[in-house]
Amino acid sequence: MTSITIRSARPYDVLIAPGLLDRAGELLRPLVKTDRAALICGDHVYPLYAGRAVRALERAGFHVCVKTIPHGERHKNLDTYGEILSFLWNSELGRDDPIVSLGGGVTGDLSGFAAASYQRGCPFVQIPTTLLAAIDASVGGKTAIDLPGGKNQAGFFYSPLAVLCDPELFGTLPVRELRCGLAEAVKTGVLFDRALFDSLRGGWDLSLAGELVARCVAHKRDVVERDEFDRGERQLLNLGHSFGHAIEQRSGYSLSHGEAVAIGMAMIARAAVGRGFCDAGTAEEIVSLLRTLGLPTDCPYPAAELLEIMKHDKKRRADTLRLVVPRAVGRCELIEVPLAELGGWLRDGGAR
Ligand SMILES: NC(=O)c1ccc[n+]([C@@H]2O[C@H](COP(=O)([O-])OP(=O)(O)OC[C@H]3O[C@@H](n4cnc5c(N)ncnc54)[C@H](O)[C@@H]3O)[C@@H](O)[C@H]2O)c1
Ligand SMILES: [Zn+2]
Repeated sequence: MTSITIRSARPYDVLIAPGLLDRAGELLRPLVKTDRAALICGDHVYPLYAGRAVRALERAGFHVCVKTIPHGERHKNLDTYGEILSFLWNSELGRDDPIVSLGGGVTGDLSGFAAASYQRGCPFVQIPTTLLAAIDASVGGKTAIDLPGGKNQAGFFYSPLAVLCDPELFGTLPVRELRCGLAEAVKTGVLFDRALFDSLRGGWDLSLAGELVARCVAHKRDVVERDEFDRGERQLLNLGHSFGHAIEQRSGYSLSHGEAVAIGMAMIARAAVGRGFCDAGTAEEIVSLLRTLGLPTDCPYPAAELLEIMKHDKKRRADTLRLVVPRAVGRCELIEVPLAELGGWLRDGGAR
């Protein structure tokens, strides 16, 4: 088993090993004092893995109540959040009882947001079932829901007690979801790790998933430990996300998070070339790896529409926005871009 400790204000371990789902109870047992737990699970994941999770928790002496939530970003909202809170209350969950999230980033973000707020905070454990959630969403303590006007507009920093990652669970992921996880792995490579970037050219291999997750989580740990609350360096992790979030929202969430981030990364790489941040070869390498992995790289929306959405970006200052630009594969830089220049960046990235 690989164990990666995240030394945030409340430290926790990310445990990675095949078969971990069936050990969830024994791993959680020493971390909490109660004998009740809530399992929150997406409706796709429920028939695949909830039974095993419940049995694992019951074997360790937990009485488990289960809540399924509808899948999809469209449901990462106030309605589902309210439903989860009512479920916790109706199940008489106390503030020492753990909430276990079993699912992708949507389930994790929603469950974490509920865990942070229910009775002012109860213990929270993540069992990521998508590659994207394992390498990104479950690590770093950010939780969020979307508001009607924008993505992730309400949220808490709230560290889990533990993250239990069982790479075997990725075996049932649709190929589109796998690609989305790979988009975040490409992001990690472009930010920090040339060798990781190169290794992704080989495509997806389930037997190497644990290693890939561990490598990405270790990079995220390094950044999160230095800047847990996202005031500086952590914003590097936003590579491809400033444009990506706007694209995801503009698509009405018909493009998934990973797809939108892939387009966002390709755009920022293209726009960086003409401004002297990186050479054309670097941008070409990034775009071509994304394409090799089956990810989209072309922006389907006009710059003006994306600009409108980006006005609400949380990283916006009065008249600038922070963008992450590649210098080379493995090295990126945070820069302040005047809002007035953003349209030019989007157009040079390929938006109409
Ligand atoms: N908190 C953070 O730091 C952070 C970081 C990155 C992304 N996110 C958020 O994560 C979300 C995206 O996460 P995601 O890509 O995991 O999407 P997701 O949670 O929507 O899951 C994708 C789809 O795969 C299905 N699924 C999940 N696990 C499965 C499995 N093992 N087998 C078969 N199907 C399975 C789900 O039902 C869903 O339909 C976005 O809301 C994004 O904002 C959060
Ligand atoms: Zn992301």
